[in-house]
Amino acid sequence: MGGYLLGVPLIDYVGARMPRSVTEAHATVAQQLSFESIPGPLVETVSVPPGYRVQVFAPWGTPINGVSPGFDPVHASNSAEDQAAQAGDHHDGIHYFPFPRDYQGSDHGLLCINYENISQQYMHPNGATVDDNGNRLVPDEVHKEINAHGVGVIELQHALGGDREIVDSGFNRRITGATPLALSGPVAGSQFVQTRYSPDGRHGRGTLNNCGNGFTPWGTYLTCEENWNAYFVNHDAVPPREHSRYGISGESDYGWETLAGHPQEIDDEFARFNASASGASAVDDYRNEPNQFGWIVEIDPYDPSSMPVKRTAMGRMGHEGCWAGKFEKGRPLAFYMGDDSRFEYIYKFVTRKKYNSRNADGSLLDEGTLYVARFDDDGTGEWLPLDDSNPELVQEFGGLSGILVNTRSAADMVGATPMDRPEWGAVHPLTGEVFMTLTNNTRRGDGEITEAVEELKGMDIGSTHPNPRAPNDYGHIIRWREDDDDPAATTFTWDIFLFGSPADQPPEVNRSGLTRRNQFASPDGLWFDPRGVLWIETDDGSDLREKTNNQLLAVIPASLEANAITPENQTHLRRFLVGPVDCEITGIDMTPDGRAMFVNVQHPGEEGTIESPTSTFPGGPGTRPRSATLIITREDDGIIGL
Ligand code: FEO
Ligand code: CA
Ligand code: CA
Repeated sequence: MGGYLLGVPLIDYVGARMPRSVTEAHATVAQQLSFESIPGPLVETVSVPPGYRVQVFAPWGTPINGVSPGFDPVHASNSAEDQAAQAGDHHDGIHYFPFPRDYQGSDHGLLCINYENISQQYMHPNGATVDDNGNRLVPDEVHKEINAHGVGVIELQHALGGDREIVDSGFNRRITGATPLALSGPVAGSQFVQTRYSPDGRHGRGTLNNCGNGFTPWGTYLTCEENWNAYFVNHDAVPPREHSRYGISGESDYGWETLAGHPQEIDDEFARFNASASGASAVDDYRNEPNQFGWIVEIDPYDPSSMPVKRTAMGRMGHEGCWAGKFEKGRPLAFYMGDDSRFEYIYKFVTRKKYNSRNADGSLLDEGTLYVARFDDDGTGEWLPLDDSNPELVQEFGGLSGILVNTRSAADMVGATPMDRPEWGAVHPLTGEVFMTLTNNTRRGDGEITEAVEELKGMDIGSTHPNPRAPNDYGHIIRWREDDDDPAATTFTWDIFLFGSPADQPPEVNRSGLTRRNQFASPDGLWFDPRGVLWIETDDGSDLREKTNNQLLAVIPASLEANAITPENQTHLRRFLVGPVDCEITGIDMTPDGRAMFVNVQHPGEEGTIESPTSTFPGGPGTRPRSATLIITREDDGIIGL
């Protein structure tokens, strides 16, 4: 049976197997998008359809309680101490929790926001202070950078007829790159995570490069550590694979480790970023500090005294995010995760225990099976367990803790399919189908790189069916459905849902027949709202950026099969929002009533300098560009998008 997805014949991508969601989805999702696709301008403001309004909420540096000083938007002169009580930088994953917990309304909630990274050039009055060798000189600057990372919990309330405002609240808190936290699960306490600071390997400091997110049915937030490797150095002649396989090198992005030994250093706070083996054993140095990163971190927004917990059973990688399958009592929970690096993999964690109202807490995440995906060319696939049931993995890594610390290497061994940078996933609220962005891979098909990666992985990685374009400059969205709709299934069917491309590319590149009104590239953020609308956010650095800034599009996937002819399909994929210059659009959620949407603008002006910023969003000329949350509402206070 054939059919089309945005003009792409299904038969080409799923063989003879039509996704089972089609009829079911039609039975339950009948709405249509109510806005027209907007143009894709290259302007400094945020563009949305007529009838919508945009509130800028809690940009970088906004005080999140009643005592911290205001932000200096002109010189960014705030101290590290200020920063610890202000919104961080590079807003990314976001989730809205109703507040109080059982509150049914949408006018009062707790927002959890990831602060993934920093625009270092804008963070200090004159950029980072360094010596001739690039070594850092000012502890307060490094503290400020560490404090600008992590997560924020912010209580917000909607005054009738007004904006949503921060509530000065005991629930508001910052978790930074230095906040004490716990490790749990199979790796906690193991030899891999013991350090001079934590000889028992059960606690650590900070979470870094918090990219996408997830949430649990018991009301906690999951924040995901992505490019954490870039904060560490290792100068060993032969670094351990726990470092080298994750890209830790002799140079860090910000040089925090170069302040080690400074008279103001406390508790090795800078030394810990040097993971070279310098002491007699692991508890004498920080060779294992990077092994405490690369995890899913659980935060309870409703308990401000609770300590964040790194859930090691869910694997160690460049975690983009962590998206739960449908929550169904009496069945295990599944969480889907992408490892965003070229030729890395897609993973699923399945809890050992079945989820029910009595056992619903974070301990469910400490026991289960981590799987990695193999996508076969016939449109089927298999989840391959990465655990101690596999004697080869046990022999190679010594047991479950070794397998989990070396998740990528274990996945290499079992024959997982190397993908084109897996970023966000989204689970259809009705069918449980999982969609995931593969943002791009400009190295697929590159001879030298291909050879090196093939040697590492022991397999052909040229142009595989689930990643069919080589090079893949513009990205695509894959989707799958578990066999028997069982979250614990080890087999699934898959197809490709959508290809990004400029409209003017030839059909073999513009495979979904995109037009000027919906051309996009490098899909990154992805989210299903509860009504079955799929929202697609972009982080595009391709030639399409000359035609449009990064953007947010919407589509109701169920409508596509019903209108299976190009170009009619194109009317179903509509551009909803376009961000300011040099930003990516990422992070997304809505209030439960669907009347307010939260979307993050990350790193506006990324390519600029203090002297020549390419953006001054949101403050305007003379101010520093600042990442921020956008709150999108309708002027008539109606439902977003429908
Ligand atoms: Fe943090 Fe892969 O984006
Ligand atoms: Ca991303
Ligand atoms: Ca990206």
